[in-house]
Amino acid sequence: MAIRNLRYEDDEILRKKSREIEVIDDKIKELANDMMETMHKWDGLGLAGPQVGVLKRIIVIDLYEEGMQFTLINPVVVKTKGTQEVEEGCLSFPNKFGKVERPKEVTVEALDLDGKKVKIKAKDLLAQALCHEIDHLNGVLFTDKVKEGTLEIVNPNNNNDVKGKK
Ligand code: NI
Repeated sequence: MAIRNLRYEDDEILRKKSREIEVIDDKIKELANDMMETMHKWDGLGLAGPQVGVLKRIIVIDLYEEGMQFTLINPVVVKTKGTQEVEEGCLSFPNKFGKVERPKEVTVEALDLDGKKVKIKAKDLLAQALCHEIDHLNGVLFTDKVKEGTLEIVNPNNNNDVKGKK
């Protein structure tokens, strides 16, 4: 396992659309492990392929609760319900936070690392994290969706208490 370099806000790779993964081989498994490790290093809740410079449809999420760690291949939102206004951040924008509107509930279909189909019914924070990471696979960033006037820029010398980074 290894920590991968993160890509940051003006990196054009963050704007590109990721490709579907056709074969879950050892390289993809290694990528998944590295992404999980990299996310943990920076205390993130989620990370998507493009954020480590890989334009493949893979995301990792960890809400640091039992049963709330996921590695998903080719995830697709198949259903949404309701909306929630939430505070959001992103590991690619380490000092920016803002309010965005996300679905309150989502159903996501994907493959796990064994290539098995999984269906996740999520609400609240997990629904938010899934939508944020799947947006990354389409080149969409949370800053595109921030409600006017809510974007905060945190002083980099005083960011020990940042939260909700994805
Ligand atoms: Ni993000």
